[in-house]
Amino acid sequence: MNDTMIGVIGGSGVYEIDGLENAEWREVSSAFGTPSDAILTGTLGGVAMAFLPRHGRGHVLSPSSAPYRANIDALKRLGVTDVISVSACGSFREAMAPGDFVVVDQFIDRTVARESSFFGAGCVAHVSVAHPTCDRLGTACAEAAEAQGINVHRGGTYLAMEGPQFSTLAESRMYRDAWGCDVIGMTNMPEAKLAREAELCYASVAMITDYDSWHPDHGEVDVTEIIRVLFGNADKARGLVARLPGLLGAARQVCPHGCDRALDHAILTAPEK
Ligand code: ADE
Repeated sequence: MNDTMIGVIGGSGVYEIDGLENAEWREVSSAFGTPSDAILTGTLGGVAMAFLPRHGRGHVLSPSSAPYRANIDALKRLGVTDVISVSACGSFREAMAPGDFVVVDQFIDRTVARESSFFGAGCVAHVSVAHPTCDRLGTACAEAAEAQGINVHRGGTYLAMEGPQFSTLAESRMYRDAWGCDVIGMTNMPEAKLAREAELCYASVAMITDYDSWHPDHGEVDVTEIIRVLFGNADKARGLVARLPGLLGAARQVCPHGCDRALDHAILTAPEK
């Protein structure tokens, strides 16, 4: 079994890993295109780490143009075993307030303009994403957040939208009231599905920046406000990440949820003779 390597895909507001030793930005090529940026590698607390800025340094890629397949493939090629997604989101719940973090465990995928599978012509596979996140990894993220003094909610359904525009009021109400979603963002899909196809454990830490547009006492979503909340929470997010090596350890265990064996019963195409 390979050693643990933690891959952090950072979103808006999280652009580095504090205290990383032997830090080096590495260009990693992928058969699925060029990743969002070079990948920062190093060790933290004796555990290998890799950090990839989802939107590229300087935030040059929109959620629709981020190369999700290349990003997951590049992390896999580097030897990453556990992927932590850090991203901004809006909240549909009064009790999930701006500044709080949510360890997401379910998704509704409303993205429409992204390559969402490694499989297609040549090799057909259908993985299960009934439980799209790794509970072991999510637990570590929630414990790290609590230890960091973050107001963290364990579990929540994330509506992944295409964007780049925010939701209409009617959409926001529908996601909240009819569909039972807890948070909304533009980046966790198809990332989570691709991580499963790549047999990587995946957990999502969503940082709440706003109440989307449904809340009668709050105005419309606004990027200036999102950035203000994100930068106010960037230290907390980096502190959470810094605690993960201590919680996960360098010795890699078999995933109790089977994330690392997701293809065992998923491939339909006959092997070449
Ligand atoms: N990212 C942060 N807030 C968001 C919102 N309200 N909708 C979609 N993506 C977001």
